[in-house]
Amino acid sequence: MKKYTISNTGLTVSRIGMGCMGFGIPWDNSPLTDAHRRNAMQVVEAALDAGINFFDHADIYSMGKCEEAFAAIWEQRSSLRDQIILQTKCGIRFADTPNPGDPHRFDFSYEHIVHSVEGSLRRLNTDYIDIYLLHRPDPLVEPEEVAKAFSELHRSGKVRHFGVSNHTPMQIKLLSASIEQPLIANQIEFNILHSHLLNEGISYNQQSTAPRLAEGTVEFARLNKILLQAWAPVAGGRLFKPSADSGDTRTDTTSKLLSEIAEKHQVTPDAIAIAWILRHPAGIQPLLGTGNPERIKSAIVADSVELSRHDWYRLFTAGRGASLP
Ligand SMILES: NC(=O)c1ccc[n+]([C@@H]2O[C@H](COP(=O)([O-])OP(=O)(O)OC[C@H]3O[C@@H](n4cnc5c(N)ncnc54)[C@H](OP(=O)(O)O)[C@@H]3O)[C@@H](O)[C@H]2O)c1
Repeated sequence: MKKYTISNTGLTVSRIGMGCMGFGIPWDNSPLTDAHRRNAMQVVEAALDAGINFFDHADIYSMGKCEEAFAAIWEQRSSLRDQIILQTKCGIRFADTPNPGDPHRFDFSYEHIVHSVEGSLRRLNTDYIDIYLLHRPDPLVEPEEVAKAFSELHRSGKVRHFGVSNHTPMQIKLLSASIEQPLIANQIEFNILHSHLLNEGISYNQQSTAPRLAEGTVEFARLNKILLQAWAPVAGGRLFKPSADSGDTRTDTTSKLLSEIAEKHQVTPDAIAIAWILRHPAGIQPLLGTGNPERIKSAIVADSVELSRHDWYRLFTAGRGASLP
C-alpha cells in the first residue's frame, strides 16, 4: 500500500484508511461483548495485513463501543500503537444525552471538546489521539473556545493534530483565524454517486436549482494542504446492489459501468470505485467502511489500479446522472 506524509504533520499514512463505524453495533447503550471485540479484531487484522495504518473513529459510533472494541488490539499487539494513526471525532450529541429531553445537537463548547477527548482516550485505551476532528459544523461555535480547548489538548500531549469533518471552506477559515494549530484534514462524503463537491465546480455559472453552499471545498483543501478524506467511499454499498433491488437508473448505470471497467482491469468493482477516488489529484483518502475482511482485500487492490481519464469521466458522468455541460 502506498503511503504519504500528511502536510503540516509528521504522520505517514496509508493512502486508503479504515473506517471503524461498524464496530460495536448497535448504536445503543447495550454492553460491549467478546463477539464485538472478535469482529473488530478480524477487521483490524485484515486492514493491517492489507497495509492500512489509519483508523477512523468517533465518540458517537455505537455510543462509544466502536472505540472500546478497537482497544482490544492492544491485548495482542501492545507495541503497535506507534505504528498506527488513530483519528477520532467529537461534536455530535444525540437526543436524551446525557439527560432525558436533551435535543439532538452539535456542541463545540470548550467543556464538551475536553470531556469528549477524555472519554475517547479512556475507551481507546491510549495516551494520545493522532488526529482529532470536529464532526459536523456547530452554528453556535465560538472559535476562541475551540482554540482554547485545542491548545490545552495539544500542550498536554493528548492530541497531536486537529481537523474537521463536513466543513465548508468559510467555516474552516473562521476556525483557523483563532486556532493556533493548523487544521490538517476535512472528512467529507464523497463517492461516484455523491460527487457534489466536484459538480459545484463543473456547473459554475450554469442555470441550476442545486444549492451552492460550499463552493471550492476541494480547491480550498488543495491550496491550503488540507487532507480530504472520503467517507462512504462506496456509497454504503449502494454501488453494488443488483439492479432489480436498486430501482434507480443512475445507480444501475453506474453499477453496470463499474463492473465493465472492473472486468477490463481484472479486479472487482469495489476496487474501481476506490480507484476513482484515488485518481483525483487532490489526494483524497478513502475510508473503507466494510466489516468484511475479504472486501478489504478486494477494495485495496485499488492502490495499484490507474484509471484512465476516459474511464474516470465515464464513471463521473454516470454517477452524477447528467451529461457534462
Ligand atoms: N464524518 C462523517 O460524518 C462520517 C459519516 C459516515 C461515516 N464516516 C466514516 O467513514 C467510514 C466509511 O463510511 P461508510 O461505512 O459509509 O463507507 P462505505 O464503505 O461506503 O459503506 C460501507 C457499507 O458498504 C457495504 N459494502 C462495502 N463493500 C461492499 C461490496 N463490495 N459489496 C456490497 N456491499 C459492500 C458494507 O457492507 P459489509 O460490511 O457487509 O461489507 C457496509 O454496509 C465510516 O466507518 C466512518 O469511519 C464518517
